[in-house]
Amino acid sequence: MAKTILILGACGQIGTELTLALRGIHGPEAVVASDIREGDSELMGSGPFEILDATDADAMEEVVVHYEVDEIYLMAAMLSATAEKFPDRAWNLNMNTLFNVLKLARENKISKIFWPSSIAVFGGTTPKEDTPQSTVMEPSTVYGISKQSGERWCAYYHRKFGVDVRSLRYPGLISWKTQPGGGTTDYAVEIFHEALKNGTYTSFLDRDTRLPMMYMDDAIRATIELMRADAEALSIRSSYNLQAMTFSPEELAEAIRREIPDFRIEYAPDFRQEIADSWPSRIDDSQAREDWGWQPEYDLQKTTATMLAELRAQAG
Ligand SMILES: NC(=O)c1ccc[n+]([C@@H]2O[C@H](COP(=O)([O-])OP(=O)(O)OC[C@H]3O[C@@H](n4cnc5c(N)ncnc54)[C@H](O)[C@@H]3O)[C@@H](O)[C@H]2O)c1
Repeated sequence: MAKTILILGACGQIGTELTLALRGIHGPEAVVASDIREGDSELMGSGPFEILDATDADAMEEVVVHYEVDEIYLMAAMLSATAEKFPDRAWNLNMNTLFNVLKLARENKISKIFWPSSIAVFGGTTPKEDTPQSTVMEPSTVYGISKQSGERWCAYYHRKFGVDVRSLRYPGLISWKTQPGGGTTDYAVEIFHEALKNGTYTSFLDRDTRLPMMYMDDAIRATIELMRADAEALSIRSSYNLQAMTFSPEELAEAIRREIPDFRIEYAPDFRQEIADSWPSRIDDSQAREDWGWQPEYDLQKTTATMLAELRAQAG
């Protein structure tokens, strides 16, 4: 029996591109997309789709049985900025969906899980430069607390029950296909849309706020490479540090100005500034490089050129 993959939260910023990439590798029928809402036409037209609330354990099990699902990628979550507005809902969504999936694996109903963590697991007491894989972690946001707790549960289920769960601490992700879903690094996507539309952007993070960021193609490739790695090679079962590039809004604006010389940026920091200030600026990802050969391909200028070219092509 060929293995089937189920993506939960498939219509979001990462899920959309991950689903398309996995369908490209395994064939459309082998990858079932699911979400509480429909996605864009490319996603919906590319293979099977189910409306599925990932907090509903019984409904999830029905889909797993029906499609003979072997692997789950759990992309449903409430992101950092939105979670500060709805802490109870964020905690319930982020934790209960993970427990539902871990339980299916513990009961041998699926054999492998991908669950994303985030740089939000770190906090104000964490070293900001070259943040080690293992270090002080005192997250100050609801989202960060849920991700840190999730990491501990993943490591626990692996050690106690042998569950094959794999995870990455994604930095802020930059992409053009799907809008970002309420994170603190969303400015780094919005800025490209506004640069092309209006030639100007007002950033909700301050000019020198340097955060770890990654272009979506690198994030998708990292995810797939981690899931394909030999289980014995993986020394981390909480979540791997992952680094590609680090920049501030002002440095991103400079990169855009190399392509659009008249581009202007202004700054009006809001509540998201405090979240960003608690996060590191550069992550040490040597463990990921050593264990499964991680190498990023997109730096700031390549990301900028690609984003502008893709958005221009999309606008026709
Ligand atoms: N995008 C980033 O920059 C980033 C960075 C670090 C970590 N992550 C993590 O990666 C994962 C995916 O992030 P994303 O950016 O694609 O998020 P997103 O907000 O764009 O997408 C999340 C999707 O989950 C769906 N969803 C919400 N509640 C659901 C439920 N009960 N059942 C099923 N689906 C539900 C939403 O409809 C949405 O399509 C999350 O765990 C997020 O924390 C993202």
